[in-house]
Amino acid sequence: LRQFSLQYTMSSRSISKVTVIGAGLMGSGIAQVSAQSGYQVTLVDLNEQLLGKAVQSIQTSLERVAKKQLKDRPEEAKQLVSKTMANLATSQSAADAAKSADLVVEAVVENLELKRSLYRQLDSTAPAGCLFASNTSSLGIAELAEAVPNRKPTFGGLHFFNPVPVMRLVEAAFNQLLEFSRSLGKSAVPCKDTPGFIVNRLLVPYLTEAVRMLERGDATAEDIDTAMRLGAGHPMGPIELADYVGLDTTKFIMDGWHAKFPNVELFKPSDMLNKLVEEGRLGRKTGLGFYKWDSKGSKL
Ligand code: 3HC
Repeated sequence: LRQFSLQYTMSSRSISKVTVIGAGLMGSGIAQVSAQSGYQVTLVDLNEQLLGKAVQSIQTSLERVAKKQLKDRPEEAKQLVSKTMANLATSQSAADAAKSADLVVEAVVENLELKRSLYRQLDSTAPAGCLFASNTSSLGIAELAEAVPNRKPTFGGLHFFNPVPVMRLVEAAFNQLLEFSRSLGKSAVPCKDTPGFIVNRLLVPYLTEAVRMLERGDATAEDIDTAMRLGAGHPMGPIELADYVGLDTTKFIMDGWHAKFPNVELFKPSDMLNKLVEEGRLGRKTGLGFYKWDSKGSKL
Protein backbone atom coordinates (compact mmCIF):
# COMPACT_ATOMS: atom_id res chain seq x y z
CA LEU A 1 0.00 0.00 0.00
CA ARG A 2 2.82 2.36 0.92
CA GLN A 3 4.51 1.77 -2.39
CA PHE A 4 1.26 2.36 -4.24
CA SER A 5 0.59 5.68 -2.52
CA LEU A 6 4.20 6.74 -3.08
CA GLN A 7 3.86 6.00 -6.77
CA TYR A 8 0.56 7.87 -6.92
CA THR A 9 1.98 10.97 -5.22
CA MET A 10 5.11 10.94 -7.32
CA SER A 11 3.45 10.45 -10.66
CA SER A 12 1.04 13.32 -10.00
CA ARG A 13 3.88 15.88 -10.37
CA SER A 14 2.98 17.85 -13.47
CA ILE A 15 5.55 18.37 -16.19
CA SER A 16 6.77 21.77 -17.28
CA LYS A 17 10.58 21.47 -17.20
CA VAL A 18 12.21 18.78 -19.33
CA THR A 19 15.90 17.93 -19.32
CA VAL A 20 17.20 15.94 -22.28
CA ILE A 21 20.58 14.24 -21.88
CA GLY A 22 22.47 13.59 -25.12
CA ALA A 23 22.45 16.06 -28.01
CA GLY A 24 22.75 13.53 -30.83
CA LEU A 25 20.09 12.99 -33.48
CA MET A 26 17.52 11.59 -31.08
CA GLY A 27 18.21 13.89 -28.13
CA SER A 28 18.07 16.99 -30.34
CA GLY A 29 14.80 15.82 -31.86
CA ILE A 30 13.25 15.11 -28.45
CA ALA A 31 14.39 18.53 -27.19
CA GLN A 32 12.94 20.17 -30.29
CA VAL A 33 9.46 18.62 -30.12
CA SER A 34 9.28 19.26 -26.38
CA ALA A 35 10.27 22.93 -26.77
CA GLN A 36 7.84 23.24 -29.69
CA SER A 37 5.04 22.02 -27.40
CA GLY A 38 5.78 24.70 -24.81
CA TYR A 39 7.98 22.81 -22.32
CA GLN A 40 11.03 24.54 -20.85
CA VAL A 41 13.83 22.34 -22.15
CA THR A 42 17.49 22.01 -21.20
CA LEU A 43 19.58 19.97 -23.61
CA VAL A 44 22.74 18.49 -22.11
CA ASP A 45 25.94 17.16 -23.67
CA LEU A 46 29.64 17.04 -22.89
CA ASN A 47 30.90 20.09 -24.72
CA GLU A 48 29.94 23.32 -26.47
CA GLN A 49 30.78 22.02 -29.89
CA LEU A 50 28.24 19.18 -29.69
CA LEU A 51 25.63 21.49 -28.21
CA GLY A 52 26.24 24.17 -30.84
CA LYS A 53 25.80 21.62 -33.62
CA ALA A 54 22.60 20.34 -32.03
CA VAL A 55 21.10 23.84 -31.65
CA GLN A 56 21.93 24.54 -35.29
CA SER A 57 20.22 21.34 -36.45
CA ILE A 58 17.17 22.10 -34.29
CA GLN A 59 16.92 25.56 -35.86
CA THR A 60 17.14 24.11 -39.39
CA SER A 61 14.57 21.42 -38.65
CA LEU A 62 12.21 23.93 -37.03
CA GLU A 63 12.40 26.16 -40.08
CA ARG A 64 11.33 23.17 -42.21
CA VAL A 65 8.46 22.39 -39.84
CA ALA A 66 7.35 26.03 -39.70
CA LYS A 67 7.50 26.42 -43.48
CA LYS A 68 5.37 23.30 -43.91
CA GLN A 69 2.79 24.01 -41.17
CA LEU A 70 2.47 27.75 -41.76
CA LYS A 71 3.08 27.95 -45.49
CA ASP A 72 1.07 31.12 -46.16
CA ARG A 73 1.76 32.78 -42.80
CA PRO A 74 5.47 33.73 -42.77
CA GLU A 75 5.14 35.94 -39.65
CA GLU A 76 3.64 33.08 -37.61
CA ALA A 77 6.25 30.72 -39.02
CA LYS A 78 8.99 33.04 -37.74
CA GLN A 79 7.29 33.21 -34.36
CA LEU A 80 7.07 29.43 -34.09
CA VAL A 81 10.83 29.24 -34.58
CA SER A 82 11.68 32.07 -32.19
CA LYS A 83 9.24 30.92 -29.47
CA THR A 84 10.56 27.38 -29.64
CA MET A 85 14.18 28.50 -29.53
CA ALA A 86 13.35 30.66 -26.50
CA ASN A 87 12.14 27.51 -24.69
CA LEU A 88 15.49 25.83 -25.24
CA ALA A 89 18.60 26.13 -23.06
CA THR A 90 21.79 24.07 -23.06
CA SER A 91 24.08 22.79 -20.32
CA GLN A 92 27.25 20.77 -19.99
CA SER A 93 26.28 19.36 -16.61
CA ALA A 94 23.63 16.67 -16.31
CA ALA A 95 23.50 17.03 -12.53
CA ASP A 96 22.93 20.81 -12.72
CA ALA A 97 20.31 20.51 -15.43
CA ALA A 98 18.35 17.93 -13.43
CA LYS A 99 18.04 20.17 -10.34
CA SER A 100 14.66 21.63 -11.24
CA ALA A 101 13.50 19.09 -13.83
CA ASP A 102 10.08 17.46 -13.79
CA LEU A 103 11.15 14.95 -16.43
CA VAL A 104 14.60 13.81 -17.50
CA VAL A 105 14.86 12.03 -20.84
CA GLU A 106 18.11 10.16 -21.39
CA ALA A 107 19.18 9.68 -25.01
CA VAL A 108 22.87 8.78 -24.75
CA VAL A 109 24.67 5.90 -26.49
CA GLU A 110 23.35 2.39 -25.97
CA ASN A 111 25.68 1.35 -23.16
CA LEU A 112 24.18 -0.07 -19.97
CA GLU A 113 26.98 0.98 -17.59
CA LEU A 114 27.24 4.49 -19.03
CA LYS A 115 23.49 4.99 -18.70
CA ARG A 116 23.46 3.62 -15.16
CA SER A 117 26.27 5.90 -14.05
CA LEU A 118 24.41 8.85 -15.58
CA TYR A 119 21.22 8.00 -13.64
CA ARG A 120 23.23 7.93 -10.42
CA GLN A 121 24.49 11.46 -11.16
CA LEU A 122 20.97 12.62 -11.95
CA ASP A 123 19.63 10.97 -8.82
CA SER A 124 21.92 13.08 -6.63
CA THR A 125 20.28 16.35 -7.73
CA ALA A 126 16.89 15.67 -9.35
CA PRO A 127 13.86 16.56 -7.19
CA ALA A 128 11.85 13.75 -5.61
CA GLY A 129 9.11 12.74 -8.02
CA CYS A 130 11.04 13.84 -11.12
CA LEU A 131 10.25 11.31 -13.85
CA PHE A 132 13.23 9.44 -15.29
CA ALA A 133 12.83 8.20 -18.87
CA SER A 134 15.14 6.38 -21.23
CA ASN A 135 14.98 6.55 -25.02
CA THR A 136 16.79 3.21 -25.12
CA SER A 137 16.46 1.35 -28.40
CA SER A 138 17.22 -2.12 -27.05
CA LEU A 139 17.84 -2.32 -23.28
CA GLY A 140 15.37 -3.39 -20.60
CA ILE A 141 13.95 -0.57 -18.46
CA ALA A 142 14.03 -2.59 -15.21
CA GLU A 143 17.71 -3.32 -15.83
CA LEU A 144 18.46 0.38 -16.30
CA ALA A 145 16.43 1.40 -13.25
CA GLU A 146 18.46 -0.91 -11.00
CA ALA A 147 21.03 1.90 -10.79
CA VAL A 148 18.56 4.10 -8.89
CA PRO A 149 16.28 1.78 -6.88
CA ASN A 150 14.50 4.67 -5.12
CA ARG A 151 13.44 6.05 -8.54
CA LYS A 152 11.88 2.81 -9.77
CA PRO A 153 8.28 4.00 -9.29
CA THR A 154 8.94 6.99 -11.55
CA PHE A 155 11.27 5.39 -14.08
CA GLY A 156 10.03 4.47 -17.56
CA GLY A 157 10.80 3.92 -21.23
CA LEU A 158 10.06 6.66 -23.77
CA HIS A 159 11.13 5.72 -27.26
CA PHE A 160 11.10 8.12 -30.23
CA PHE A 161 11.87 7.55 -33.91
CA ASN A 162 14.20 9.29 -36.30
CA PRO A 163 13.50 11.93 -37.61
CA VAL A 164 11.78 12.81 -34.34
CA PRO A 165 9.97 15.95 -35.61
CA VAL A 166 8.39 13.93 -38.43
CA MET A 167 7.75 10.41 -37.11
CA ARG A 168 4.34 10.22 -35.47
CA LEU A 169 4.89 7.43 -32.98
CA VAL A 170 6.25 7.28 -29.45
CA GLU A 171 6.44 4.03 -27.47
CA ALA A 172 6.01 4.48 -23.75
CA ALA A 173 6.51 1.91 -21.02
CA PHE A 174 4.92 3.97 -18.24
CA ASN A 175 1.48 5.60 -18.06
CA GLN A 176 2.46 9.17 -17.33
CA LEU A 177 4.89 9.10 -20.23
CA LEU A 178 2.00 8.19 -22.54
CA GLU A 179 0.29 11.43 -21.54
CA PHE A 180 3.49 13.39 -22.09
CA SER A 181 3.95 11.82 -25.56
CA ARG A 182 0.41 12.78 -26.53
CA SER A 183 1.02 16.35 -25.34
CA LEU A 184 3.79 16.49 -27.99
CA GLY A 185 1.20 15.72 -30.66
CA LYS A 186 2.48 12.17 -31.14
CA SER A 187 0.49 8.95 -31.26
CA ALA A 188 1.58 6.91 -28.29
CA VAL A 189 1.47 3.17 -27.80
CA PRO A 190 1.91 1.55 -24.40
CA CYS A 191 4.64 -1.08 -24.31
CA LYS A 192 5.67 -3.82 -21.96
CA ASP A 193 9.24 -3.59 -20.73
CA THR A 194 10.71 -5.89 -23.39
CA PRO A 195 14.00 -5.20 -25.24
CA GLY A 196 13.35 -3.07 -28.35
CA PHE A 197 9.68 -2.60 -27.35
CA ILE A 198 7.54 -3.18 -30.47
CA VAL A 199 9.16 -1.33 -33.34
CA ASN A 200 12.86 -2.10 -32.89
CA ARG A 201 12.20 -5.74 -31.95
CA LEU A 202 10.65 -6.12 -35.41
CA LEU A 203 12.59 -3.51 -37.36
CA VAL A 204 16.22 -4.18 -36.42
CA PRO A 205 16.19 -7.95 -37.22
CA TYR A 206 14.42 -7.04 -40.50
CA LEU A 207 17.19 -4.55 -41.41
CA THR A 208 19.83 -7.16 -40.60
CA GLU A 209 17.99 -9.81 -42.64
CA ALA A 210 18.13 -7.42 -45.60
CA VAL A 211 21.91 -7.06 -45.11
CA ARG A 212 22.21 -10.86 -45.01
CA MET A 213 20.27 -11.07 -48.28
CA LEU A 214 22.77 -8.67 -49.82
CA GLU A 215 25.65 -10.64 -48.28
CA ARG A 216 24.38 -13.87 -49.87
CA GLY A 217 24.21 -12.11 -53.23
CA ASP A 218 20.49 -12.76 -53.60
CA ALA A 219 19.82 -9.19 -54.74
CA THR A 220 21.50 -5.79 -55.01
CA ALA A 221 21.02 -3.07 -52.37
CA GLU A 222 19.07 -0.96 -54.86
CA ASP A 223 16.77 -3.85 -55.79
CA ILE A 224 16.10 -4.81 -52.16
CA ASP A 225 15.18 -1.20 -51.41
CA THR A 226 13.02 -0.76 -54.50
CA ALA A 227 11.27 -4.05 -53.74
CA MET A 228 10.34 -3.06 -50.20
CA ARG A 229 9.33 0.47 -51.18
CA LEU A 230 7.11 -0.59 -54.06
CA GLY A 231 6.14 -4.07 -52.93
CA ALA A 232 5.48 -3.41 -49.25
CA GLY A 233 4.76 0.33 -49.36
CA HIS A 234 7.58 1.31 -47.00
CA PRO A 235 8.82 4.92 -47.32
CA MET A 236 12.44 3.67 -47.41
CA GLY A 237 13.93 0.29 -48.24
CA PRO A 238 15.79 -1.57 -45.46
CA ILE A 239 19.34 -1.01 -46.73
CA GLU A 240 18.78 2.73 -47.04
CA LEU A 241 17.03 2.73 -43.66
CA ALA A 242 19.98 0.93 -42.03
CA ASP A 243 22.22 3.72 -43.36
CA TYR A 244 19.69 6.29 -42.14
CA VAL A 245 19.47 4.83 -38.60
CA GLY A 246 23.27 4.30 -38.49
CA LEU A 247 25.09 1.04 -39.17
CA ASP A 248 26.81 1.29 -35.77
CA THR A 249 23.46 1.66 -34.01
CA THR A 250 22.02 -1.29 -35.92
CA LYS A 251 25.07 -3.40 -35.09
CA PHE A 252 25.18 -2.43 -31.38
CA ILE A 253 21.52 -3.36 -30.93
CA MET A 254 22.02 -6.75 -32.61
CA ASP A 255 25.28 -7.43 -30.71
CA GLY A 256 23.56 -6.71 -27.39
CA TRP A 257 20.67 -9.03 -28.16
CA HIS A 258 23.00 -11.72 -29.52
CA ALA A 259 25.02 -11.65 -26.28
CA LYS A 260 21.82 -11.94 -24.28
CA PHE A 261 20.03 -14.51 -26.45
CA PRO A 262 22.87 -16.43 -28.19
CA ASN A 263 20.55 -19.13 -29.57
CA VAL A 264 18.23 -16.80 -31.45
CA GLU A 265 19.19 -17.16 -35.12
CA LEU A 266 17.71 -13.76 -36.05
CA PHE A 267 20.11 -11.94 -33.71
CA LYS A 268 23.29 -13.48 -35.14
CA PRO A 269 25.87 -10.90 -36.28
CA SER A 270 26.41 -10.06 -39.95
CA ASP A 271 30.02 -10.02 -41.23
CA MET A 272 29.18 -7.36 -43.80
CA LEU A 273 27.71 -5.04 -41.18
CA ASN A 274 30.66 -5.61 -38.85
CA LYS A 275 33.14 -4.84 -41.61
CA LEU A 276 31.45 -1.59 -42.64
CA VAL A 277 31.33 -0.38 -39.04
CA GLU A 278 34.98 -1.33 -38.53
CA GLU A 279 35.87 0.79 -41.57
CA GLY A 280 33.97 3.76 -40.12
CA ARG A 281 31.29 3.53 -42.80
CA LEU A 282 28.40 4.24 -40.45
CA GLY A 283 25.82 5.39 -43.00
CA ARG A 284 24.20 8.80 -43.44
CA LYS A 285 26.03 10.46 -40.53
CA THR A 286 29.51 9.72 -41.98
CA GLY A 287 28.49 10.30 -45.61
CA LEU A 288 29.17 6.66 -46.48
CA GLY A 289 27.53 3.37 -45.60
CA PHE A 290 25.93 1.06 -48.12
CA TYR A 291 25.22 4.27 -50.05
CA LYS A 292 26.83 7.71 -50.35
CA TRP A 293 25.12 10.64 -48.60
CA ASP A 294 25.73 14.37 -49.13
CA SER A 295 26.49 16.86 -46.35
CA LYS A 296 22.80 17.78 -46.10
CA GLY A 297 21.86 14.15 -45.44
CA SER A 298 20.39 13.33 -48.86
CA LYS A 299 21.21 10.02 -50.52
CA LEU A 300 23.33 10.51 -53.63
N1 3HC B 1 12.95 17.94 -39.43
C1 3HC B 1 11.85 18.51 -39.93
N2 3HC B 1 11.22 18.11 -41.04
C2 3HC B 1 11.76 17.06 -41.69
C3 3HC B 1 12.93 16.39 -41.24
C4 3HC B 1 13.53 16.89 -40.05
N3 3HC B 1 14.62 16.33 -39.53
N4 3HC B 1 13.19 15.38 -42.10
C5 3HC B 1 12.24 15.38 -43.04
N5 3HC B 1 11.38 16.40 -42.81
C6 3HC B 1 10.18 16.75 -43.56
C7 3HC B 1 10.55 17.40 -44.87
O1 3HC B 1 10.69 18.79 -44.74
C8 3HC B 1 9.40 17.02 -45.78
O2 3HC B 1 8.37 17.95 -45.65
P1 3HC B 1 7.42 18.26 -46.93
O3 3HC B 1 6.48 17.10 -46.98
O4 3HC B 1 6.77 19.55 -46.59
O5 3HC B 1 8.34 18.34 -48.11
C9 3HC B 1 8.91 15.68 -45.20
O6 3HC B 1 9.47 15.55 -43.90
C10 3HC B 1 9.40 14.54 -46.07
O7 3HC B 1 10.80 14.63 -46.19
P2 3HC B 1 11.57 14.53 -47.58
O8 3HC B 1 10.75 15.10 -48.69
O9 3HC B 1 12.95 15.06 -47.37
O10 3HC B 1 11.80 12.99 -47.84
P3 3HC B 1 10.82 11.78 -47.75
O11 3HC B 1 9.47 12.08 -48.26
O12 3HC B 1 11.60 10.67 -48.35
O13 3HC B 1 10.68 11.49 -46.18
C11 3HC B 1 11.42 10.38 -44.25
C12 3HC B 1 11.79 11.32 -45.38
C13 3HC B 1 10.34 11.06 -43.37
C14 3HC B 1 12.67 10.18 -43.44
C15 3HC B 1 10.83 9.05 -44.86
O14 3HC B 1 11.70 8.55 -45.83
C16 3HC B 1 10.62 7.98 -43.81
O15 3HC B 1 9.63 7.97 -43.11
N6 3HC B 1 11.59 7.05 -43.71
C17 3HC B 1 11.55 5.96 -42.72
C18 3HC B 1 12.06 6.50 -41.41
C19 3HC B 1 11.97 5.47 -40.31
O16 3HC B 1 11.59 4.32 -40.48
N7 3HC B 1 12.38 5.90 -39.10
C20 3HC B 1 12.46 5.02 -37.95
C21 3HC B 1 13.83 4.50 -37.80
S1 3HC B 1 13.99 3.45 -36.38
C22 3HC B 1 14.34 4.50 -35.12
O17 3HC B 1 14.47 5.67 -35.26
C23 3HC B 1 14.45 3.87 -33.75
C24 3HC B 1 15.86 3.85 -33.22
O18 3HC B 1 15.81 3.42 -31.89
C25 3HC B 1 16.78 2.94 -34.02
